[in-house]
Amino acid sequence: MKALLVIFAVLYIHTVFGVDPHEHTKVVCYWNSTAYEREGPAKFQIENVRQALSLCTHLIYGYAHINSDFEIVSGSPSLDTGSGYSYYKLATQLKRSFPDLKIYLSVGGNSDPYDEEHKYLVLTETAEGRTKFINSVNRLLNDYDFDGIDLAWQFPPVRPKKQRSALGSFWHGLKKKLGYGKFKDEKEQEHRDGFTILVRDLKTQLRPRFKSLTVTVLPHVNASVYYDARLLAPNIEAVHIFAFDQKTPERSAKEADFPAPIYGSYGHVVDDNIDNAQSYGYVGDDNIDASARYWLENGTPGSKIVIGIPTYARTWKLTADSQISGVPPIETDGPGAPGPQTNEPGLLSYAEVCAKLTEHAAGRLRRVGDPSKKYGSYAYQSYNADTGAEGIWVGYEDPDTAGNKAAFVKSKGLGGVAIVDLSLDDFRGVCTGDTYPIVRGAKYKL
Ligand SMILES: *[C@@H]1O[C@H](CO)[C@@H](O)[C@H](O)[C@H]1NC(C)=O
Ligand SMILES: *[C@@H]1O[C@H](CO)[C@@H](O)[C@H](O)[C@H]1NC(C)=O
Repeated sequence: MKALLVIFAVLYIHTVFGVDPHEHTKVVCYWNSTAYEREGPAKFQIENVRQALSLCTHLIYGYAHINSDFEIVSGSPSLDTGSGYSYYKLATQLKRSFPDLKIYLSVGGNSDPYDEEHKYLVLTETAEGRTKFINSVNRLLNDYDFDGIDLAWQFPPVRPKKQRSALGSFWHGLKKKLGYGKFKDEKEQEHRDGFTILVRDLKTQLRPRFKSLTVTVLPHVNASVYYDARLLAPNIEAVHIFAFDQKTPERSAKEADFPAPIYGSYGHVVDDNIDNAQSYGYVGDDNIDASARYWLENGTPGSKIVIGIPTYARTWKLTADSQISGVPPIETDGPGAPGPQTNEPGLLSYAEVCAKLTEHAAGRLRRVGDPSKKYGSYAYQSYNADTGAEGIWVGYEDPDTAGNKAAFVKSKGLGGVAIVDLSLDDFRGVCTGDTYPIVRGAKYKL
């Protein structure tokens, strides 16, 4: 009886005072459920997720979409809710084996196709739109036992700074998919206010059900435009900041650079003065430090700020015109060749990077670490003038750089790290024998 009372007291304290056992050590693991569709060794299934869960405090299932009636809907019905797989059910059942794990369903995440109407914006504009969304979330939570909802809202991204005319058809094909079109949001303030109200009202519905609410700031969304940190913070458990993909081959085909630096200045710059950074590519908020500062300076408790760490590399093609030093920023010609497993131009999983670094053959890349612990690692192979073979420049995350990011989180008193995503880490442990080396590299530095 006494023990029972203690248990109730602890539960009471947890729920009423919101004591967070992982205040500064959150390891939020994103799961791209669609990675199940990959073939061969990159195919990622629920058994692979299970192997990560002793390392994760939170699991985020991505991604749900919204329909034209502003309701939350499955992003992949045959996988999520179909009779064959029913991953929503299987995912939430993982809690039986990992009772402390919190599992959230995330909406958006740039996996929902952009339409002309920008439904993510229109939804926020009216009480009717917001209510439809909130009611649909309530219905979903009646059917599936998620512990919370994450809003990875598809606000329009900031357009690339130097949009050269010669970006090529690859860029144009992606532009619409990623929403970088001509669209200029004339109602930024209205959407910001509408989103704030949406979060408040959704939390009002979730609170009595003991469900959590978090937000994910997607890459290139200007947080100071769309996220009213001061008003959002009390209504969310955490903000997951995707401060990566600062440079990608889609946005910057002609110049490769560190994709996910902690700080904005590097190279010849003698100090971290933001003004000096301007001539070196990173201006203003395109780095982790500046992104975190926006939330901190606007009243968000450090423990609610979670820093995203990508598990994949961005790659560019090196040509005869590229500097042979490999030092970024470096002249390039579009995305690097697709990886053998992930099969997507300009992207390699950590397992694929690792294979290229350790290969004994001529294909082996020259690797450059990050002793400054500020900018990230890269590896490259120059264009071969003898054979005419193209080269590659790879900006990547590894267990050390992930650890540097976790150390940054710790030194600033932030809430933890978000791993984006599990399927692109070395989940089979082919690099060194340890599964999920990037998750581990981050976790053990928190
Ligand atoms: C998830 O993985 C699939 C399959 O590789 C890919 O097409 C999709 O872009 C990924 N989604 C995200 C949000 O990374
Ligand atoms: C983000 O928005 C602020 C205004 O809120 C603006 O000053 C800043 O330049 C914007 N950043 C980018 C990268 O566009």
